[in-house]
Amino acid sequence: MNYKFTSRNELDTLELAQNIESEKFPNMVICLEGELGSGKTVFVKGFANAMGIKENVTSPTFNIVKEYLNGELPLYHMDVYRLEDNYDTIGFEDYFNKEGVSIVEWADLIKEYLPEERLVIKFKVIDENTRLLIFEPFGKIYEDLCESVL
Ligand SMILES: Nc1ncnc2c1ncn2[C@@H]1O[C@H](COP(=O)(O)OP(=O)(O)O)[C@@H](O)[C@H]1O
Ligand SMILES: [Mg+2]
Repeated sequence: MNYKFTSRNELDTLELAQNIESEKFPNMVICLEGELGSGKTVFVKGFANAMGIKENVTSPTFNIVKEYLNGELPLYHMDVYRLEDNYDTIGFEDYFNKEGVSIVEWADLIKEYLPEERLVIKFKVIDENTRLLIFEPFGKIYEDLCESVL
């Protein structure tokens, strides 16, 4: 089952991320898909902020993974847009099992490395400020989460 959420502005996306954050658990994996400028990093900012992370979250485009360790759980923020053939050297699986929360931008580019159980969120640009978010939960824990948050 898929779930849809229409975000009317940046604040809507930040608030949605905050609501999902309230259901976080160790080894949670959230996969973000959607074109540049669709709001993936905004979502991560909202999530990180709700976790109590003080640093300014920016897209880790050049270093692929950014670790934020001063929040309620570790947050691993990955952006695999510029990842080329060095998939194996990053060690994604290790991050997914480190008891933190992993959020991956452009996750569709590393499908074979993703855990079976995960939350996929697809961002679609409707107009300047409107985004359609489509949630695809894989696994009961993520189904339940969508059921309670959306
Ligand atoms: N409803 C919305 N949700 C999220 N961002 C929005 C929305 N409307 C406009 N924006 C703007 O779109 C841009 C999204 O940027 P960003 O999150 O970096 O995209 P991505 O990480 O997907 O490339 C920001 O400039 C943000 O202010
Ligand atoms: Mg981004």
